[in-house]
Amino acid sequence: MTTLGRRRVGILISGGGSNMAALIAAARDPAYPAEIVCVISNRADAGGLAKAEAAGIATLVVDHKAYDGREAFERAVVERLEAHGVELVVLAGFMRLLTPWFIERWHDRLINIHPALLPSYKGLHTHERALADGVKIAGCTVHFVRPEMDVGPIIVQAAVPVLDDDTPDTLAARVLVQEHRIYPLALARVASGAARVVQDAEGRERVETRLPSPPAEALISPR
Ligand code: GAR
Repeated sequence: MTTLGRRRVGILISGGGSNMAALIAAARDPAYPAEIVCVISNRADAGGLAKAEAAGIATLVVDHKAYDGREAFERAVVERLEAHGVELVVLAGFMRLLTPWFIERWHDRLINIHPALLPSYKGLHTHERALADGVKIAGCTVHFVRPEMDVGPIIVQAAVPVLDDDTPDTLAARVLVQEHRIYPLALARVASGAARVVQDAEGRERVETRLPSPPAEALISPR
């Protein structure tokens, strides 16, 4: 693939931006099917901004507190994304709920990473809740965004074992390592057209990847 064919990606962050950094690192490869053209944070103190700047990516702050309502904030974000010719929007630890207007504006061109195996543990404090429930397998999900929170066709998931002595922090760290693997993978599949949303006869959506089947190995935890 030539660099001319790379899809232009804008990343929205609110915090440390480790997933953003993983995507920027993957996109350094000229063969990667997407390029990161801008990073927008809704918080001026987001640690990810300095990382993006150091990588030579255009960074912008659109402070939600400076706008009268969600939609005015989102219109300002869309203006910046359009000014950079963005084709795909990636949420990487972006901690604002988006309105249906924004989500429909980027239909099937807006993806998110969530630190749980959706549809389990939508929302916040996923690791605390998983530990409290005593689950033995946790993980993370990259999905297309739909108006309902943490809902949308799943692109890639990774699973990790939960260990007896895990705390929310140790589990979060184990999951985060996998987030950094699957987010670049998922974005590559969306950008190259390998991951497409299809509907079944009942109108339910899922992502088709047309990839060779993985080895049929189970993650058994504990074993
Ligand atoms: C990640 O674990 C991401 O999955 C989570 O926030 C963290 C951001 O870390 N996202 C959500 O909880 C979204 N609801 P990062 O800024 O280092 O990428």
